[in-house]
Parts: sequence; structure tokens; C-alpha cells
Amino acid sequence: MSVLDRGLQYGDGLFETVAILDGEPRLWERHMARLRAGVERLALPPPPEAELHEEACRLSAGSGRAVLKILYTRGVGGRGFRPPEPARAMRILMRFEAPEYPAAWWSQGVDVRFCDLRLGAQPALAGLKHLNRLEQVLARAEWTDPAIAEGLLLDNNGAVIEGTQSNLFAVIGDRLLTPVLDEAGVAGVMRAWILEWAALFGLNWEEARLTRSDVLEARELFLTNSLIGVWPVRSLAGRRLPERGIARELIACLRAARLCLIPD
Ligand SMILES: Cc1ncc(COP(=O)(O)O)c(C=O)c1O
Repeated sequence: MSVLDRGLQYGDGLFETVAILDGEPRLWERHMARLRAGVERLALPPPPEAELHEEACRLSAGSGRAVLKILYTRGVGGRGFRPPEPARAMRILMRFEAPEYPAAWWSQGVDVRFCDLRLGAQPALAGLKHLNRLEQVLARAEWTDPAIAEGLLLDNNGAVIEGTQSNLFAVIGDRLLTPVLDEAGVAGVMRAWILEWAALFGLNWEEARLTRSDVLEARELFLTNSLIGVWPVRSLAGRRLPERGIARELIACLRAARLCLIPD
């Protein structure tokens, strides 16, 4: 790989983090759909999906529980920031060991804080899993206490957007709410799966602008991503959450369907 790759030089690219379970990449079609959508928005060359799938399966084979990371960049070239025409995209596939989180983070829930860092608004990039992750790097450096599983990020208008590595859901009244991601945030593959699940089970859900006090008053909160599936929130900024019912149902469902790295 060239040191001149635009992924390294400018963060000019996208990535996917995929759970490997029982030797297979999980939620593959959803990861590809998001990659495809990102590629269109950034005007990157279309990914060779059949080859990518074959490479991902080869890397996953034999791994009981692991993580597959796919980087897809605009490759080398262009004058300064100006993208090369045509671009020759570069892809990198990496397999990592599965993260070892305590099983209690699923059964009892996690303790969560608010981060001080504010996410910038950028509609042109909102929702994408692009390679520029300095906001998350700074936010994750805000705490070292291993008992705190995640930090929530607000934007400059005071709207809660997501966690440093997860999306957020809140049960307020009888509605399931998740932040709108039209100015900031990553539109998670697991978030999309959960919204479809909610629709299937007749749960009312909405994308909403949620403030810090909205989430502090929620009956239930949970965090989601492709690896963890769902973590119920046990406490936020020291305040205990009274319920975990929807998260518990989701965990049972995701575990039975073997879609992510929930411990057995
Ligand atoms: C900032 C951020 N938001 C949301 C997510 C959830 O995305 P997904 O469900 O596709 O894993 C991630 C995943 O790593 C993330 O880093």
C-alpha cells in the first residue's frame, strides 16, 4: 500500500467493521448496502462486491468469534485534494480478535457518561462511516475508567447524537426514539436492523432530536453496534435507568439469530 494513499493522506475513504461468528461475516448485505451508499455519496469507484465477499469469507473461515475491518479508499493520486480521474480504489481487509467485554454488560447493562467534545455539523458526511474519526479519538480520550463503557456525544446545538462507537436508542413514554443523523453521526448497520425489528413487532419508533435532559429522563436507553449488538444502559452520568425490557428482548433475538458478538 502506498504512503500516498488518500485514505492515509486525507481520510478519503470509508470503512466497515463486521462481526465474524462461526467462521462467517455477519449482516454482510447490510454492510455492503451502507458501503455502496457511502461510495455513491463520495463518488468513489464502486466496490467489487463479489470479490470482497469472497475475500471476507476466506478471512473469516475458521474464526469462531472475530472482527473483520474493511477499509475502502480512493487510492493514490490527484493534485492536492482534487480527486484523481479516474480513481483506482484501494481495499484492505483485516481480521482482529473479538473484543472481550464483561458478560454483565449485556445482562446488567453498562455505565455511560456524557463527553465534553461536541460533534461538528456536516450534512455532506452525516451518516457515513468515513475514515475521518478524530472526533471519536478525542472523545474516547476523555475517560480512562474501565467501568465506563461508553460516552455520549452531543452536537453544537445540544442534540444528543450517538456514542463514541455506537448508536443510541431511548424509550420515552411509549415511543422508541433514536437521534436523527442528518448533520452528524454514523448510520449504524445495527441501528437499521433494530428499526426494522421494531417495525416488524409493531413498536412505534421515530427519529428525533433528543436533548441531554430527554435522555436523562428516558425510561430505557440502549447502545448498539455491529459487534456488541445491544448494550442496555444501567446508568447515565450516575443516574440509574429504571428499565431494560426492550434491550433484553433485542439481545435474546440477536443472540438466537447469531448476528453479532453477544456472549452465549
Ligand atoms: C461513531 C459510531 N457510531 C455508530 C456506530 C455503529 O455502527 P454499526 O452499527 O454499523 O456498527 C459505530 C460503530 O463502530 C461508530 O463508530
